[in-house]
Amino acid sequence: MELRGNWNYPTSIRFGAGRIRELPDACRSLGMRSPLLVTDPGLAALPMVARAVELCRDAGLHCVVFSDVQANPVEENVNRGVAAFRSGGHDGVIAFGGGSALDAAKAIALMVGQTRPLWDFEDREDWFTRVDVSGMAPVVAVPTTAGTGSEVGRASVITDLSDHTKKIIFHPKMLPAIVIEDPELTVGLPAHVTAATGMDALSHCLEAWCSPFYHPMAEGIAAEGMRLVSRWLPAAVRDGGNVDARAHMLVASSMGATAFQKGLGAMHSLSHPCGANLNTHHGLTNAVVMPYVLAWNRRAIEDKMVRLAAYLGLGSHSFEGFLEWVLALRSEIGIPHTLAEIGVREEHAAAFAPQALADPSTGGNPLPMTEDDFRVLYLNCINGKM
Ligand SMILES: [Fe+2]
Repeated sequence: MELRGNWNYPTSIRFGAGRIRELPDACRSLGMRSPLLVTDPGLAALPMVARAVELCRDAGLHCVVFSDVQANPVEENVNRGVAAFRSGGHDGVIAFGGGSALDAAKAIALMVGQTRPLWDFEDREDWFTRVDVSGMAPVVAVPTTAGTGSEVGRASVITDLSDHTKKIIFHPKMLPAIVIEDPELTVGLPAHVTAATGMDALSHCLEAWCSPFYHPMAEGIAAEGMRLVSRWLPAAVRDGGNVDARAHMLVASSMGATAFQKGLGAMHSLSHPCGANLNTHHGLTNAVVMPYVLAWNRRAIEDKMVRLAAYLGLGSHSFEGFLEWVLALRSEIGIPHTLAEIGVREEHAAAFAPQALADPSTGGNPLPMTEDDFRVLYLNCINGKM
């Protein structure tokens, strides 16, 4: 089967190897003549960004690169991008890169026509209605990692340095109008990044699957996303040049972010404070905490895990069968077993617990959580206690 397609949900997706060539056409179809390509400094130095710019320029587009975006982007990255957009007279954004670049780019496209500050658009109550939609710039998203799925997400995660929390900036129209998913752009990712980002995709599908809300469409997408991860993530880690494995992981990543409109849970609640305070890698942190959170939630998710283990074709159709599969996958692709191994210490547990409790992901956890629950769960993850 040829791994290629044009899909129209959750947005317009042009999927297939080599389709980065369609970038100028995608920009034009959104009325862009002068796109600002937002990426991170690492990617900006690679030939793939130079090629994307060249494709645009050859097609008569005035394309400029903005790459002042850090991992776990902050407000300043967004403000500088907005300034670059305005001073350059741009009319659209190409969001190009991994989760940090995509999130920064989407936030820049939101903010270019607003008068309120960024934090006024945090995902609370109906704050998104404060957005002046006519001021939002169109976005073409081009993911270069397979994990965050931000290319099909309606929000950006930006770190607020005033209180070291990750805040979600949300508007339904932040969903990029066109996505180009070209697996060839992901073949150069090192194995450890492939592993960590791929586990982020798994955590999105898994937390969406486990969250207690009624959303069968999201559950269907989550289950198939997890099947793709189970089948293809080890292959993509083993052989980065396996374009088929890369293709399946790229779509699994988009499926995760589509599914998690249903909700996330304590994996993300635990992970966000680690990222905001210690700059740990988001996907890696989720991967580390995954089995501890499953064990914690066991009594609320046992039936769902039986169904899931059957769908994935695991040896044992049981909670234990699924947990064992997660542990085996983690060790096969080199994920550390405890938070201690990525720099989180016991003294962080009490400090991070209130932040985890306040995280918007907490509402989707299968069991209600308290601050003390989070403190204990952090200690479990730090000390390897399942
Ligand atoms: Fe995530």
